[in-house]
Amino acid sequence: MTEPISVPPPIDARIAVVMVGLPARGKTYTARKLARYLGWLGYRAQVFNVGNYRRERVGVNMPAEFFDPDNLEADGIRFQLASHALDDMIAWLGTTGQIGIFDATNSTLERRTRVRERCEKAGLSVLFLELICDDPAMIEANIRETKITSPDYQDLTPDEAAADFRRRIANYERAYEPIQSDEASYVKMINAGRKVVVNRIEGYVPGRIVQFLVNLHTVPRRIWLTRHGESQDNLRGVVGGDSSLSERGRAFAYRLRDFVASDGPPVLHVWTSTLKRGIETAWELRRSFLPIKSLDEIDAGICDGMTYAEIQERMPDEYAARRADKLRYRYPRGESYEDVIRRLDPVLTEIERHREPVLVIGHQAVIRCLYAYLADVPREQVPFVSVPLHTVIELTPKAYGCEETRFPLGPE
Ligand code: F6P
Repeated sequence: MTEPISVPPPIDARIAVVMVGLPARGKTYTARKLARYLGWLGYRAQVFNVGNYRRERVGVNMPAEFFDPDNLEADGIRFQLASHALDDMIAWLGTTGQIGIFDATNSTLERRTRVRERCEKAGLSVLFLELICDDPAMIEANIRETKITSPDYQDLTPDEAAADFRRRIANYERAYEPIQSDEASYVKMINAGRKVVVNRIEGYVPGRIVQFLVNLHTVPRRIWLTRHGESQDNLRGVVGGDSSLSERGRAFAYRLRDFVASDGPPVLHVWTSTLKRGIETAWELRRSFLPIKSLDEIDAGICDGMTYAEIQERMPDEYAARRADKLRYRYPRGESYEDVIRRLDPVLTEIERHREPVLVIGHQAVIRCLYAYLADVPREQVPFVSVPLHTVIELTPKAYGCEETRFPLGPE
């Protein structure tokens, strides 16, 4: 028998995603998020940020004049730095990497042509990702949120830093040429995704990239993750099953209702699994909710309904195999964590898309997987994330990370 399809689907080409755009258009934010998403799906993806090469090699505190296109000496240095980063990315893609994200302005046709030629010579598929923004309020918000706290400006006041950064942008603007060639494979995101132009995109991974990007936004909102209330099967210590809530589980559901009612926003999307313990927890909230099959707990296959001790005794090899590689281990006729991640992909896309808060009432493995993406947990650690019962995990996405608060509602 052949092995079931590997997770994620193999890609037949190494991909270079080349960021394009003026400073403060959200390139680094988008590049990092994309790398996090692709890494979560199981691809080896990495960002190569030219700004970091510059800070490491020529130091922080470079004034706006360093970015003046007429400053030929500085232009030569910046070109060298970008080349180093590109060389490193190409070398990485030639060995272990699958998707490299080249995070630089790449704002002139000449620069992009060189990047593209070098990548194609190395056998990479090139996808340009251009971020365009002409909304002054959005640009200013980006400067205030991410630039004035950058290591580039550690010695300046916020106003001095913002003023210097605006001069830096003006320098880039003088030389900037948006992508025009319809030969290239590209995605243009205009004003934070209000308009998206997609050209010559084909293949599974580029398609996933586009789908992810069109759902991104930066509207602040909270995401609440919790497991269902304690179930009868939790009391027995068995995996899987489809039992009802225990008394304590029901008490948690009431507390969750009070929590949502006291702190809850007027619009709240509530999603749960199709399993009884999820539905019964959501039901007690006394508001509409959506049962989603992909939120069902990891399928323990032939081990469903057994305790861990029973699995160890009756199927020692299976028990040992899971302990050896919990992320990839697939229960016979069931699932692995990797399988769960794949089926959660549409749910994650929906979490990203919504601008209103979302409450997900899930299960241990499922919440671990969603949490891992949001809180940027390394993939190997996913099956070990602590997700206690009767605790709401509140996550608020920020520019470069996520703020987290845990509310242990009890009962313990
Ligand atoms: O024990 C509760 C439970 O949700 C089981 O149904 C499920 O198999 C298990 O947790 C997942 O956790 P782990 O991957 O650590 O076994």
